[in-house]
Amino acid sequence: MTTINAAASGTFRIGGDLEVNRLGFGAMRITGNGIWGDPEDPKEARRTVARVPELGINFIDTADSYGPFVSEDILAEVLAPYKKGLVIATKGALTRHGPNIWLPVGRPEYLKQCVLMSLRRLKQERLDLWQLHRIDPKVPRDEQFGAIAEMQREGLIRHVGLSEVSVEEVQAASRFFKVATVQNLYNLVNRQSEAVLDHCEKNGIGFIPWYPLAGGPLAKEGGALDTLAKKLGASPSQIALAWVLKRSPVMLPIPGTGKVKHLEENTAAVNLKLSDEDFRALDAQGQEAWRAQKR
Ligand SMILES: NC(=O)c1ccc[n+]([C@@H]2O[C@H](COP(=O)([O-])OP(=O)(O)OC[C@H]3O[C@@H](n4cnc5c(N)ncnc54)[C@H](OP(=O)(O)O)[C@@H]3O)[C@@H](O)[C@H]2O)c1
Repeated sequence: MTTINAAASGTFRIGGDLEVNRLGFGAMRITGNGIWGDPEDPKEARRTVARVPELGINFIDTADSYGPFVSEDILAEVLAPYKKGLVIATKGALTRHGPNIWLPVGRPEYLKQCVLMSLRRLKQERLDLWQLHRIDPKVPRDEQFGAIAEMQREGLIRHVGLSEVSVEEVQAASRFFKVATVQNLYNLVNRQSEAVLDHCEKNGIGFIPWYPLAGGPLAKEGGALDTLAKKLGASPSQIALAWVLKRSPVMLPIPGTGKVKHLEENTAAVNLKLSDEDFRALDAQGQEAWRAQKR
C-alpha cells in the first residue's frame, strides 16, 4: 500500500521563513450547515482533525467566523499542545448573523479583538498567519492595514495574509506590511483570480485557493473529471487537487472536509503526478467551462 504523506506535495515558505507542505487542510467544514454551529457529526469532525497531522499535513486554514468559533475551538481541543511545525492560519473581520450570512467589520478596534480572541481560542501566544478575511468597504482600507501592521509590530501576528483581493489591493497593503499569502477563490473551473495568482508567483507570495473542489462538484463521480480520473486510476477530487498543485509552486490548496475518508482521499492526491499533456488538456477544459459560466 502506498503511504500518504502531504510532504510529497513539496514545500513552500510562508513569508520566506515558515515552511509548510503545500497541501493543507481547510477547517471550515467541521462546523454545522451554513458554516453555523456545531458539526452534524462532532465525533467524525474531531477524528478528521486528529488525522490531519498523521497524514503529514502541517498547514491548516480556519477563521474565527467558522461556526463562529466552532472550528478554532475544535482545532485547539484536538491538536493543542501543537506538534512542532504545525501552522494554523486563521482569519478575522467577518461577523456572523446566521447560517451563510457573513458581514465584514474592519474597524481597528474590532480587528484587534479578532486577533486577541483567536489567540485565546487557539491557545497560542502569536498567530503564525493571520488573514484579513475581507477588506471592509465601509472603513478606509489604510486604517485596516495600519491596525494590522501595528499588531504585527506588537508581536501578536507573525505573518499577514489577505483574502479575496485584487492585485491593486495587494500592492496597497504591501505599503503597510509584507503580504505573505493571498487566499482567493480559485479552481480548475473558476479563473477569476489568474492575474492575482501570477502576481503572487512573481513576488513569492503564497496563493491559497479556496474552493479547490468547487465546493464538491469537482470531486463528484460522474462529474467533469471522471474520464481522466478513471484513466489514471484516481478520484475526481485528486485530479482537481493535482491540477492546482501543478499550476504554480506558490499554490497552497486547502481542501475542506469533515470526513476522514475524504481527507485521506484528498491527501493521496499528492501521489498523483499529472503529465504535462494531461495538465494542458485539463487546463483547456477548465478554461472552456469558465468561459461558459461567464457567457
Ligand atoms: N477566504 C474565504 O473567503 C474562504 C471561503 C470559503 C472557504 N475558505 C477556506 O477554504 C477551504 C476549502 O473551501 P471549501 O471547503 O469551501 O471547498 P472545497 O474544498 O472546494 O470543497 C469542500 C466540499 O467538498 C466536499 N468534499 C471534500 N472532499 C471530498 C471528496 N474527496 N469527495 C467528495 N466530496 C468531497 C466536502 O464535503 P464533506 O465534508 O462531506 O467531505 C465539502 O462540502 C475551507 O475549508 C476554508 O478553510 C475560505
